[in-house]
Amino acid sequence: MNYLYPFNSKISYEQRKEMMQQEPCLVWLTGLSGSGKSTLALRLEHYLFHKGYKVFLLDGDNIRHGLNHDLGFTEQDRKENLRRVGEVAKLMLDAGLVVLCSFISPYQEERALVKQIVGENRFTEVYVNCSLEECEKRDTKGLYDKARRGIIPNFTGISAPYQAPVVPDVELKTDEETIEESLYRLIDYVEPQLQDKAQTKALYKL
Ligand code: ADX
Repeated sequence: MNYLYPFNSKISYEQRKEMMQQEPCLVWLTGLSGSGKSTLALRLEHYLFHKGYKVFLLDGDNIRHGLNHDLGFTEQDRKENLRRVGEVAKLMLDAGLVVLCSFISPYQEERALVKQIVGENRFTEVYVNCSLEECEKRDTKGLYDKARRGIIPNFTGISAPYQAPVVPDVELKTDEETIEESLYRLIDYVEPQLQDKAQTKALYKL
């Protein structure tokens, strides 16, 4: 039996958006380890912050040290990792923030779940597409080498699956374009969506 009752704030979502002067949005970056997700997310956060947006980045490597330190890399744990992140992102969006998430997020079903949790119209899926060969060549953290030698089990791309997005909102081919080219394409797609619709409407009236 569930004895919980819904809890309603006295402050509406509209009021929060007005206070924040922006349209909350979750930008979700998915891709293989070493594909450039974190680098792009960090640079996008830096850019948006300095343009005055209230933005915050959640990244697999830091979330797994705190909130999700009890989770590993089995299919079940990865799903729970993303479910929790989806719920946290939803709270942050409800508070009026722009949220960036950088997670391998290898399963289509879990990305769809996050989209459902936060609401379809607040979700942007970015596929950071870099071939396994290139990620393995970069091997910035030395993890692919360990995965190939069997020291790390369930490693995405080697001994665990990666299901690429079928119709992402943005696809960045980080093995074909420079990080700056990818970043500018990302900014061009994301920034217009964050502009406060009420404000834009007011401007049009002038
Ligand atoms: S996810 O699959 O659950 O979305 P997440 O993005 O949180 O993964 O964490 C990925 C990071 O954990 C990688 O960038 C890498 O540094 C580290 N890692 C450690 N073990 C693994 C593994 N078995 N597979 C993938 N990444 C791993």
